[in-house]
Amino acid sequence: MLRTHTCGELNKGDIGKEVELCGWNQSRRDHGGLIFIDIRDRYGLTQIVFNPEMKEAFAAADKSRREDVLKIKGNVVARKEGMENPKLATGEIEVEVSSIDVLNDAETPPIEVEDRVEVSEEMRLKYRYLDLRRPVMNNRLFLRHKAAQAAREFLNKDGFMEIETPLLIRATPEGARDYIVPSRVNTGDFYSLPQSPQLYKQILMVSGMDKYYQLARCLRDEDLRQDRQPEFTQIDLEMSFVEQEDILKLSEGLIRHIWKKVLDIDIEKNIPRITYKEAMDKYGSDKPDLRFGLELIDVTDIVKESDFGVFKQAEKVKCINPVKEFSRKDFDAYVDFCQKNGAKGMAWMKVTEKGLESNIVKFFNEDIQKKLLEKTKAKKGSALMFIADKEKKTNEILGGLRVKIGHDLELIDHNEFKFCWVTDFPLFERDEDSGKWAPMHHIFSMPKKDLMKFMETDPSKVTGDLYDLVLNGVELGGGSIRIHKKDIQEKVLNVIGMDYKQAEERFGFLLESFKYGAPPHGGIAFGFDRLCALLNGINDIREVMAFPKNKAAECPMDGSPSEVPAEQLKELHLKVEKAKK
Ligand code: AMO
Ligand code: AMP
Repeated sequence: MLRTHTCGELNKGDIGKEVELCGWNQSRRDHGGLIFIDIRDRYGLTQIVFNPEMKEAFAAADKSRREDVLKIKGNVVARKEGMENPKLATGEIEVEVSSIDVLNDAETPPIEVEDRVEVSEEMRLKYRYLDLRRPVMNNRLFLRHKAAQAAREFLNKDGFMEIETPLLIRATPEGARDYIVPSRVNTGDFYSLPQSPQLYKQILMVSGMDKYYQLARCLRDEDLRQDRQPEFTQIDLEMSFVEQEDILKLSEGLIRHIWKKVLDIDIEKNIPRITYKEAMDKYGSDKPDLRFGLELIDVTDIVKESDFGVFKQAEKVKCINPVKEFSRKDFDAYVDFCQKNGAKGMAWMKVTEKGLESNIVKFFNEDIQKKLLEKTKAKKGSALMFIADKEKKTNEILGGLRVKIGHDLELIDHNEFKFCWVTDFPLFERDEDSGKWAPMHHIFSMPKKDLMKFMETDPSKVTGDLYDLVLNGVELGGGSIRIHKKDIQEKVLNVIGMDYKQAEERFGFLLESFKYGAPPHGGIAFGFDRLCALLNGINDIREVMAFPKNKAAECPMDGSPSEVPAEQLKELHLKVEKAKK
């Protein structure tokens, strides 16, 4: 090694030692004849001092600039009294430099390597290597590493086998768009990149692997958001001869282990469970944030009797009652917020000493007003905010408003980790436009036994052994018990209007494998990037990925995606129709 210690290591106990350190010039200060440099590496910062008597070293230090790569030799000494820095692990000492070697000089960095510097996302991604030098980023990646190790540790101990599945595969039906890769050897054919290892992990169960896991890279061509990237990682697992309860218990153990190892936090033993229906009814979301209340209240029956046309005609009218004396301007802003989310409007009433007040109160007689107050238990100084629409839309919009108000009124404790399982998801959802049934999760999930009879008559009634783990309003993971029998699989395919032949074309290899003794099996996948973001107390998964893509799915650092040379296209027998704008 070029060094004897790291830049985060030296303390009082090392005083008197001659040491060698390597790192980057974080900052240089000239102090009445002495030059101080903070030298930085992954492990920390050490203050090094240059005395003019050490002519050569002093001259080099005088010239050294930010981000130069330095190697120094010197003696560890105690800092002068009053000059200690208790915030720094090495804050009690400094190193008096006897010689310096500039291993590499640096041009002025286009972004500051400082935790607190505000730079645009684009610049951070373009110069990611500088961005990652910042301690805050460094810590996030380290924590990610620890989480991955904790996951492996837990699963290994439980007898799981880590198995890699292919990246070049046949397209699997998983909901998003596939990235495709042309085959040179098989002209005109394409591989797909996996949206998840779903089919392969199921086949591993048919292969008798019993307990599989993988920190799996998944690729999905979808519109990006804060919590979505085209490339992401799952802690993906599958088990044979299990029931839903087994997967939930195993998952709780895994999550508890990760939180304990990484943050030394004990997560409650029995993570609360709510059904999909309850989640939608109470929170208007299948990923409810349970850090605060403000539950949705169904007032459809009460307001049906009113003279307010909008409410009388609506399928569902629900409200929330936040405790705050909102101004007219506040209400307008919330109306705007709801409309941006697709609401036709948002009606509100203030609860005052005199009762309910607003421009629509006149449509509600005294009896209805009384019933509203009773049902909502609204106290004076609060507000009622209503959405009227089709049930699904009412839930979605009011659920969105609930979260917004939860944040605005600071009802959320940001240090809290509030987990819940959402269970009993419907197997199918109806596409509003086409009227067709589509799988809610994927087509391999097992319907509940006693509801199978509704498959032909009313698919909306069929729920499955399907579960999501939700943390603070974020869907952290999801899975199901799988179908392992041909006849049930056929029935599910029937509902979504895919005949067995079509299915065979797309994933016949899975169905084929089921003919030769498929064990009952089930599993789950956790979004590892989301998990790491939440462990770090943030929401943006890009902050816990070394090299994420920007919002346009580009990498500003390497310039991907990019055109490929004509020769390469020719080799693949591909023609690009439109040249780049
Ligand atoms: P699902 O599609 O629900 O299930 O994905 C599982 C978890 O992966 C995370 N996730 C994402 N994270 C970042 N960027 C994305 N684009 C993205 N998409 C999903 C979420 C999600 O909960 N094969 C099934 C799992 C199974 O049934 O076992 C699957 O992939 O946290
Ligand atoms: P309008 O009758 O359109 O003038 O609306 C009267 C009030 O009802 C306004 O405050 C609207 O924002 C509100 N409103 C309109 N449509 C809805 C709806 N679907 N749900 C809740 N409030 C609505």
